[in-house]
Amino acid sequence: MEELTITRPDDWHLHLRDGAALKAVLPHTVRQFARAIIMPNLKPPIRSVADAAAYRDRILAAIPAGKQFEPLMTLYLTDNTSPEEIIRAKESQFVKAVKYYPAGATTNSDFGVTDIRKCDRVFEAMQQVDMPLLLHGEVTDPDVDMFDREKAFIERHLMPLKQRFPNLRVVLEHVTTSDAVQYALSANNIAATITPQHLLFNRNILFQGGIRPHFYCLPILKREEHRLALLQAATSGNPKFFLGTDSAPHPRNGKESSCGCAGCYSALHAMELYAEAFESVDALDKLEAFASFYGPDFYQLPCNTEQITLTRTTWRVPDEVPFTESGLVPLRAGQEMTWQMV
Ligand code: NCD
Ligand code: ZN
Repeated sequence: MEELTITRPDDWHLHLRDGAALKAVLPHTVRQFARAIIMPNLKPPIRSVADAAAYRDRILAAIPAGKQFEPLMTLYLTDNTSPEEIIRAKESQFVKAVKYYPAGATTNSDFGVTDIRKCDRVFEAMQQVDMPLLLHGEVTDPDVDMFDREKAFIERHLMPLKQRFPNLRVVLEHVTTSDAVQYALSANNIAATITPQHLLFNRNILFQGGIRPHFYCLPILKREEHRLALLQAATSGNPKFFLGTDSAPHPRNGKESSCGCAGCYSALHAMELYAEAFESVDALDKLEAFASFYGPDFYQLPCNTEQITLTRTTWRVPDEVPFTESGLVPLRAGQEMTWQMV
């Protein structure tokens, strides 16, 4: 196959940041995707419908002239989020989900939830109005090994949560393990997003010839057996698994540091990366549904009507793209890609 034309996809997990960073990265996403679920982990986070409305306006103002893009907003769940805010969110129409970060789990998660049970009244309201809950599914307990934090989250928090709220629709975001895949397959009212980095790389890449900060994201890359389980899930044609890049831009000097930030930047070439991953298991025919159908189905939105085309061409990922005070290093910078979106 030399050319692949599919329905225009959406990104169901995206970090756009704000201000100059937003202006720098948004054109990349707009080139590929029609819509995206926008993560609320700004500093300070997007905690209310009013915050989300203002952030949405800033995103709309940053869309390049003549282009179409719809930001689908989320609220950042805190210990203090009220059930009333959930009702307001539902009424707003533009807030599509609520994001749970365990306090301290990842970038800008200081306002995150300290104990998931504190949010039961909010989950009750979400279940009532059918507002999806997006989970950063990792425990933060220092006694749990870094590579086991997703599995521990599922056992300690997600399974009990699903028992308390069986009808709450949940997305286990950026799944990284076979444990997460198995759990998503076994439970009701649950879907999972999968990033390009977790489909393409295992944890060895983090240490290939030295420490490689641009492959560091959270949840961290896992063993090869987990990557294979994710690839199998993504290409299985099961609508529970759909595209969410988790593209998370940080300036080069924030990544190449004695305490580097977590996040891979993939908005530049997300569909090309996914195409490579799908082609590696001869499953390009499964890419369209994963990228363009199953996400809208979960969020009860229509699929896009336009199309995009990927062409088989060799090109080199730039070493850096312009960003803020220092540049932005895309995932797989300097390396050759085999597909290109034209
Ligand atoms: C994200 C970020 O930088 O905002 N980083 C990441 O490694 N994925 C936060 C997140 O989604 O965990
Ligand atoms: Zn994320």
